Amino acid sequence: MHSIIDRILIDSDQIQAKCKELGEQISKDYEGKNVLLLGLLKGCIPFMSDLMRHITIPIRVDFMDVSSYHGGTFSTGQVKINKDIDTNIEGVDILIAEDIVDTGRTLDAVIQLLTLRKPNSIKVVTLLDKPAGRKVDLKPDYVGFTIPPVFVLGYGLDYEEYYRNLPYIGVIKEEVLTKKEV
Ligand code: IMP
Ligand code: MG
Repeated sequence: MHSIIDRILIDSDQIQAKCKELGEQISKDYEGKNVLLLGLLKGCIPFMSDLMRHITIPIRVDFMDVSSYHGGTFSTGQVKINKDIDTNIEGVDILIAEDIVDTGRTLDAVIQLLTLRKPNSIKVVTLLDKPAGRKVDLKPDYVGFTIPPVFVLGYGLDYEEYYRNLPYIGVIKEEVLTKKEV
């Protein structure tokens, strides 16, 4: 375990079992549909790659990289697209794959933006949900684990861009964050 980690919140076996469970559910729910699994970079990478291997129906995949400007009134104009999708999504069933939903602002903006392109549906699968942090009315359709309001890292989630490669979800040591604020 890395020295920055206080404790492991969700271990690798639990994550893998959850990916299987979600993949099987999604395969049932989306049977016969024209599915695009849309990952939000970079946090989605390990989760999306494990999840998609448990999806047994034909799907396409694509990625978006967005930065959201938090603060002020939030609208589609306030999400900066660093990388857009290459797929025409008119009539397509979009399933957005996220690492974690916290305030919900990023997803809210992405959903508003994608809605303008007339997909058939937009749903969200997230590995982690932190409902205590929510600032907009957004409920992910598929949730791996609901977690308390702590800062987590690993399995896609970063602290200052590091630790995304850890195979588990860990809670960061309190002193790392408090030192930072001083
Ligand atoms: P929000 O829902 O718009 O607040 O943004 C969610 C994004 O914030 C996620 O995709 C993560 O990149 C980041 N984030 C939120 N909570 C955490 C955390 O506990 N650890 C690492 N990144 C986080
Ligand atoms: Mg992210």
